[in-house]
Amino acid sequence: SFNTMYAQKTAEIPTISEKTLSSILEKNRTYYTQGKVADYIPELGKMDAKAIAFSVVEKNGRVLNVGDVYKKFTMQSISKIVALMIAVKENGEAGVFDKMGYFGTDQPFNHFSNLETTGKPLNPMMNAGAILTTSLISGEGEKPFLKILDMVRYITGNQTIEYNTSVYQSEKSTGHRNRGMFYLMKNNGLISGNEDQLDNYFKQCSIELTAEDLAKIGYFFANDCIRFDGDDRYKNAEMSRLILSQMLIAGMYEFSGEYARTVGLPSKSGVGGGITVSVPGKMGIGVFSPALDKHGNSAAGYHMILDLARQYDLSLF
Ligand code: DON
Repeated sequence: SFNTMYAQKTAEIPTISEKTLSSILEKNRTYYTQGKVADYIPELGKMDAKAIAFSVVEKNGRVLNVGDVYKKFTMQSISKIVALMIAVKENGEAGVFDKMGYFGTDQPFNHFSNLETTGKPLNPMMNAGAILTTSLISGEGEKPFLKILDMVRYITGNQTIEYNTSVYQSEKSTGHRNRGMFYLMKNNGLISGNEDQLDNYFKQCSIELTAEDLAKIGYFFANDCIRFDGDDRYKNAEMSRLILSQMLIAGMYEFSGEYARTVGLPSKSGVGGGITVSVPGKMGIGVFSPALDKHGNSAAGYHMILDLARQYDLSLF
């Protein structure tokens, strides 16, 4: 029944075991058959549909990993939350949000009709807003991208993270819709630079990492921008409130409302098959399974998160 689907609300979360994560992963492994690997960026279509990984970083930085833990994939739209952090650090919140909205959405990630109506992107989680956000990071050429890459390396503590040049090239040569948005925003006076700025967006989407790295990103924004190992040089509660609120209302695109109802946690998906989840004040979760549902979110990934959230009563609500 409805009531037995959810655990009883408790203040503390019980320690999660690897065995629990494993059994959730096995239960949901076959959901990949209900999704489809993204192939609108041709290089992404080469991913192994059966790959699956599930990671949790608990309070105090304890890391749990099950499944294909070494499998790397591109972060894609998950990079948008890191870019937003840097753009807001440099321009202030008003300097970013006078150019785009805080709106939730009933539209897919590449929707951009607002550029014709209000003239501004709906929010920084959808492509138009994200392309604009990256253009607001200072520096010539690929400098803004390198700032995003450095921040991803810092948050994960993983200096080996690079971007996948084949995915980048593939995205650059086929991303005409994103290029169209870029020039519409330039026409609207929102973007002032040249196409290097769009390339920076393509590069940030091509940053390659693991489910564990995603869990650490989720942990960082769940804990006032304090890193999993306690490093607090970027500590900023206002920043994480902003990022988490955008993740909650638009991080899963047009599925965000239903996702808030079922999972109830700020999350950000990418078409590479990853999802980063923040359990505020508690933990970060990272999942990976490349087959996507009709909204562009990992099909098996969603079901793993849903089961974990129900089993440990992680929903905010
Ligand atoms: O711009 C694009 O189309 C991709 N690089 C990123 C889109 C994405 O990840 C949407 N998420 N589900």
